[in-house]
Amino acid sequence: MGRTVDDNALDTLFRDARTYAKWQPRPVTDETVHRLYDLLKWAPTSANSSPARFAFLRSTEAKERLRPALAPLNVEKTMTAPVTVIVAYDLKFYEQLPKLFPHSPAMAKLFENNPEMVETTAKRNSSLQGAYLIMAARALGLDCGPMSGFDHAKVDEEFFAAGKPCFGCDQEFFPEGHVKTNFLCNLGYGDPTALYPRLPRLAFSEACSLL
Ligand SMILES: Cc1cc2nc3c(=O)[nH]c(=O)nc-3n(C[C@H](O)[C@H](O)[C@H](O)COP(=O)(O)O)c2cc1C
Repeated sequence: MGRTVDDNALDTLFRDARTYAKWQPRPVTDETVHRLYDLLKWAPTSANSSPARFAFLRSTEAKERLRPALAPLNVEKTMTAPVTVIVAYDLKFYEQLPKLFPHSPAMAKLFENNPEMVETTAKRNSSLQGAYLIMAARALGLDCGPMSGFDHAKVDEEFFAAGKPCFGCDQEFFPEGHVKTNFLCNLGYGDPTALYPRLPRLAFSEACSLL
């Protein structure tokens, strides 16, 4: 489209955006959570497959269900965050392809018979969608704290086990234990006084090649 965003937006999305562990006592409304999903859903996934599923934990009760799965260093930042998102992926994402990719009925069949491709596609694209969530959150003025330090099996069992509803979801769309956790992300309005100095990044010459 050739449109660019201004420097202020680039600061908000990248240069000034940090990973937060301490939070201001300011809630994240359900309306903001809806706006967040309604932004991130537009970013691309392969065959428009959209395999990510998001469980937004807001209540103390939901956080307590998560607590036993958290690595010790991630407990306090998670319990105090206004919202913790479980970024997960649905291994039956291809069942939605007739709606999401209607011009190519063969695509769903391709996945049905290829569990390896299902897993690779689900992991790759749910990771992308998790990153889109982070960028969309920043665009809405929220701060993030992504985490991989937790017990996946425990989270899957507690939130996505066979026959259990997805906590906090209006409907049981995770009914058969085919949803797996990818990573967690705390959301809120961060407390900048608790930040450590920014860590360095690789320079262009260290990370990129021009061929
Ligand atoms: C997928 C992922 C997993 C992470 N896991 C943890 C974690 O378990 N605990 C933690 O304290 N930080 C975790 N981090 C935070 C990173 O260490 C942090 O984003 C990185 O050092 C950059 O910090 P900055 O955004 O403040 O520059 C994780 C980040 C990502 C993207």
